[in-house]
Amino acid sequence: MKIREIVQTALITATIIILGMIPPLPLGFIPVPIVMQNLGIMLAAVILGPKKGTLAILGFLLLALIGFPVLSGGQAGPAVFAGPTGGYLLGWLLTPLMIGYGLSRPFINRRWSRLSIIWFAGVLLVDVIGSVWLWLVSPISLIGSLVSNLAFIPADTLKAVAVYLVAERMRIWNKETTRL
Ligand code: BTN
Repeated sequence: MKIREIVQTALITATIIILGMIPPLPLGFIPVPIVMQNLGIMLAAVILGPKKGTLAILGFLLLALIGFPVLSGGQAGPAVFAGPTGGYLLGWLLTPLMIGYGLSRPFINRRWSRLSIIWFAGVLLVDVIGSVWLWLVSPISLIGSLVSNLAFIPADTLKAVAVYLVAERMRIWNKETTRL
């Protein structure tokens, strides 16, 4: 990686950490809050592409794992990864690869298809992985978990639209950011 790419990757990791300083919004009916960090995850995927995006998120998750309070609400440590929100964290790590794969398909050249890919991988996939994980580690049923997660969809969809608009503005739909 060139110096410029390392700086870019570090800046996106820093952006995800800063978004974690926005206080999480508890929902009450499941032990998973509304957060802003997933906007940063989608941003990392779209701006950096699959490889650097994964690196940026891996760096962020490693910081959290070894105890730096970089997750929303100042959370950190291995217990968080094994807890109710662990599945979303796993989903976050997969997001750049999934978005990168989707955007690299030859037929993905329309606005709606790009937005759909960001939404599908950055919102739906993460929420489904998170729901299944939540079901596995808590007394909540699978259906209960999936249905509760529908509460995230409206705000997560707005975040996906915001990321899409930033990407449009930056005109980053090139081979470099979508290549796997
Ligand atoms: C953590 O900080 O431990 C992870 C929180 C995960 C929250 C998930 S991400 C997808 C969905 N949308 C939200 O706003 N919250 C959940």
